[in-house]
Amino acid sequence: MKVKTILITGGSSGIGKKTGQYLASLGHIVIGTTRQFVLKDEQLFEEGTISMVTMDVSNPISVKKAIAIIYHHCKNIDVLINNAGYGIAGALEDTSVSEANNMFLVNLFGVMEVSNQVLPYFRAQGYGQIINIGSVAGYVSLPFQGLYSASKAALLSYSKTLRNELRPYNVTVSVIEPGDIKTNFTANRQYTNRTTNKSPYYIRAKRSIGVMEKDEINGDAPIVIAKEINKQINKKHPAIAITVGFKYKVFKLIFSVVPTRLSEYIVYQIYGK
Ligand SMILES: NC(=O)c1ccc[n+]([C@@H]2O[C@H](COP(=O)([O-])OP(=O)(O)OC[C@H]3O[C@@H](n4cnc5c(N)ncnc54)[C@H](OP(=O)(O)O)[C@@H]3O)[C@@H](O)[C@H]2O)c1
Repeated sequence: MKVKTILITGGSSGIGKKTGQYLASLGHIVIGTTRQFVLKDEQLFEEGTISMVTMDVSNPISVKKAIAIIYHHCKNIDVLINNAGYGIAGALEDTSVSEANNMFLVNLFGVMEVSNQVLPYFRAQGYGQIINIGSVAGYVSLPFQGLYSASKAALLSYSKTLRNELRPYNVTVSVIEPGDIKTNFTANRQYTNRTTNKSPYYIRAKRSIGVMEKDEINGDAPIVIAKEINKQINKKHPAIAITVGFKYKVFKLIFSVVPTRLSEYIVYQIYGK
C-alpha cells in the first residue's frame, strides 16, 4: 500500500473522525480539522494518529492558515476529503436568506474554498484526489430540510464540473452520498429561527424531522462510509458519485426510473404530511 497524506475537514466528530481514525490505522498520514482552537498545531503531527488543525471552512483566512501549517509539516497532500458540514431544518418559508447563506457557506462554498486553496498544489504535483461528502438528500429533495438538500444537490453539480475541469491535471473528484448515519449530525442540526409553534408548518416540520432523526439514530455506523472512502482512495479511476448502503442504492435506482410525480408523492408520504 502506498502511504498517502490525507486532509479531512471536520475530523473531530462522526464520519470525519471515524474515517480519519480508520485511514490512520491503515498507515496513512491523516490531518483532520476542527473549528476548535488546537494548541500548538506543530506538535500534533504524529504518525498513526489523526493530527488536528484549526480550520473554519467558512473563513478563507482560517483555511489559508491551516493549509500553510499542513504544507509546512507534511510537504504534500495526496487526498482532500471535504467532509465538514451541518444540517438545517425548517420550512423554506420559515428560512431566512441569511440562514440559507450560512448553509451554503459551509456545505458548498466551504468545499470550494478548501479545494481552491489545495488545487494549485495538486496541479503542480501532477495528481491529486478530492472526495466530497454529499448526501442522499442531494437527489431526494427533502421537505423541511430544503436548504440542506439544495446545498448537497449543488455540491454534486459543482463536483461533476470540477471533475471535468481537472481531468487534464490528473486530479479526480468524487462524491460519496451517505444515507442515514449515526453521528452528532442529528444533535448538531440547526432549526431555523422561524420554526416555532407560531409557524403554520410547525407540526408537519416537527413530525418530518422526527422521522429523519429516528432514521439517523438507527442508521449505519460511520465506519461504512470510512470503508467506502478507502475503497475510492485505492481505485485507479474513482467513481463520480457513490451512494453507500444497499437500501439507499435501491432508493436511488427507484428514484431514477419512476416518474417524478410518483417520487414526489412517495417523499410527501414519508416526510411531507
Ligand atoms: N450523519 C448523517 O446521517 C449524514 C448523512 C449524509 C451526509 N452527511 C454529511 O456528512 C458530513 C459529516 O457529518 P457528520 O454526520 O459526521 O456530522 P457531525 O458528527 O456533526 O460532524 C460534523 C463535522 O463537521 C465539522 N464542521 C461543521 N461546521 C464546520 C465549519 N464551518 N468549518 C469546519 N468544520 C465544520 C465539525 O467540526 P467542529 O465542530 O469541530 O468544527 C465536525 O467535525 C456532513 O457534510 C454531512 O452533511 C451526514
